[in-house]
Amino acid sequence: MKAVVWQGKRDVAVEEVPDPRLQEPTDAIVRITSTGLCGSDLHLYEVLGPFMSEGDIVGHEPMGVVEEVGSGVGDLRPGDRVVVPFNISCGHCYMCDQGLMTQCETTQVTEQGMGARLFGYTKLYGAVPGGQAEYLRVPHADFGPVKVPDGPADDRYLFLSDVLPTGWQAVEYAGVDAGQTLLVLGAGPIGDMATRIALDRGDRVITAESVPERLDRVRAVGAETIDLDAIDVEVGEQVRGMTQGRGADAVIDAVGMEAHGSPATSTVQKLVGLLPDALAEPLMSYVGIDRLAALSTAIDSVRRGGTISLSGVYGGTATPLPMLTLFDKQIQLRMGQANVKRWVPDILPLLTDEDPLGVDTFATHHLPLDDAPAAYRMFQEKKDGAVKVVFRP
Ligand SMILES: NC(=O)c1ccc[n+]([C@@H]2O[C@H](COP(=O)([O-])OP(=O)(O)OC[C@H]3O[C@@H](n4cnc5c(N)ncnc54)[C@H](O)[C@@H]3O)[C@@H](O)[C@H]2O)c1
Ligand SMILES: [Zn+2]
Ligand SMILES: [Zn+2]
Repeated sequence: MKAVVWQGKRDVAVEEVPDPRLQEPTDAIVRITSTGLCGSDLHLYEVLGPFMSEGDIVGHEPMGVVEEVGSGVGDLRPGDRVVVPFNISCGHCYMCDQGLMTQCETTQVTEQGMGARLFGYTKLYGAVPGGQAEYLRVPHADFGPVKVPDGPADDRYLFLSDVLPTGWQAVEYAGVDAGQTLLVLGAGPIGDMATRIALDRGDRVITAESVPERLDRVRAVGAETIDLDAIDVEVGEQVRGMTQGRGADAVIDAVGMEAHGSPATSTVQKLVGLLPDALAEPLMSYVGIDRLAALSTAIDSVRRGGTISLSGVYGGTATPLPMLTLFDKQIQLRMGQANVKRWVPDILPLLTDEDPLGVDTFATHHLPLDDAPAAYRMFQEKKDGAVKVVFRP
């Protein structure tokens, strides 16, 4: 089959690789019909190289048709149309029972001290072959795959794999009451979707971003916007000016560590990029490579006693944080990968012909898998209006 494989920094290729095979009774093989390109893939593309191996199949936002099943997959059948959540979880352990599928005790990558396995996401998360491919082996298929009805085009359901539950969890964790003000940093797919979900709930949403077409998209659905390139003051000051001097009741950071290939990438990131993997890996894990621009903005912009909800991915363990300010402002921090299956039942009722979240028109590009190398570049450089790219293998 064809698959998108990681080759090195800013280098992916489409290659012929062996078809996946059933290995466990709870496996299924899914023929992929649509599969998303995510801001998280840009971290692999830009800075997480030390945790990747050449030839790793990337991608974690797939959907398609079940082709083959093991003997232990419950009522999943060949021919079923399914969305595959990006986290792999068992559905019946202590963590899964609490809706913490990202911490699943059956699939935790204990040798790395990490949480549940993820598709296509470094050896930290189990080096599981990913979903930007023609076929995908889905472990724990007795629990993971979400069956969806035939009829609507793939995009109606595709974003259940990641973007929708991630945006949903970001808003849940932000915990604003109706009518309160939510600041969203970043209007990539995640910030954009979080904005739509919060607006649908009746919150006041201010979204900060610098890419013009991304600002246009969130403005069109009813957000107030801050154009980072057009203000002379810090974002925090701008937000206080819009909130009676107080700051936002909650802030969602939908940016994460530097993944944008900007020339200003920090010295540490550059240094890590130059080191052989054996040296770079411990440096990244223990020293941290995060540029904290967005998180610092969140800490400054949130009101006293407010909440910061991090969905942007950060990577280092010893990244310095302004503890005095966090403590004094009595800020609550919530974060993590999205517990996909926990939120699916809440989101499904919104995926209707009325389409209140605009999922049917959310993707900006539908491309064949062969275009992956150019698509990664376009998405990272934010060219050609690329906000959400969907591959159709
Ligand atoms: N928690 C999860 O489960 C989960 C799931 C998916 C993605 N993510 C993470 O969410 C983040 C966003 O993903 P995406 O797909 O939207 O990616 P993206 O890279 O397209 O979006 C990030 C956006 O932030 C903007 N930005 C950069 N610096 C900023 C700043 N200082 N202030 C405000 N905006 C800024 C960029 O212009 C860009 O539009 C990534 O870190 C990704 O890894 C997390
Ligand atoms: Zn994703
Ligand atoms: Zn579990």
